[in-house]
Amino acid sequence: MNLVSFFRLIFLGIIIYLNVCNESDFIFYYIWNMVINVIIKDPKWTEVWQFIAENGKNIAELAAMHGIDIPVSCGAGVCGVCLCKVEEWKDVVKWDAFNSPLMPLKNDEDWNPEEVLTCIAGFNPEKFDDWQDYTVVLQRAY
Ligand code: FES
Repeated sequence: MNLVSFFRLIFLGIIIYLNVCNESDFIFYYIWNMVINVIIKDPKWTEVWQFIAENGKNIAELAAMHGIDIPVSCGAGVCGVCLCKVEEWKDVVKWDAFNSPLMPLKNDEDWNPEEVLTCIAGFNPEKFDDWQDYTVVLQRAY
């Protein structure tokens, strides 16, 4: 057994232990150690700011935590005020992470989101490749 296999075995043991102990938040956090840079652009394509995504918060909340203004009104996927276009890494953006939108949104031919309501959208760790860093680019509609 080489060193990499040894550490994989240890890691698997920890995952199984934490699952048994119902500590799934830790596992999710571990998955989220993969970096998602989020770049927000305004409607004129000017880069507003960028930040690193964290688990358990919608995109509008994350942006607000980093001082980026994405307008939010209903906060429930109804009004469309928080609409953003997804320009890069559409497949790691989860358009219904926190609720189902009550308005039609555009998708590409692979059903990846081209538009998201940031008050209910998040990121999808199931779509991550091994240890690749991602830079999701979003453009505010308003
Ligand atoms: S704030 Fe209304 S849909 Fe997001």
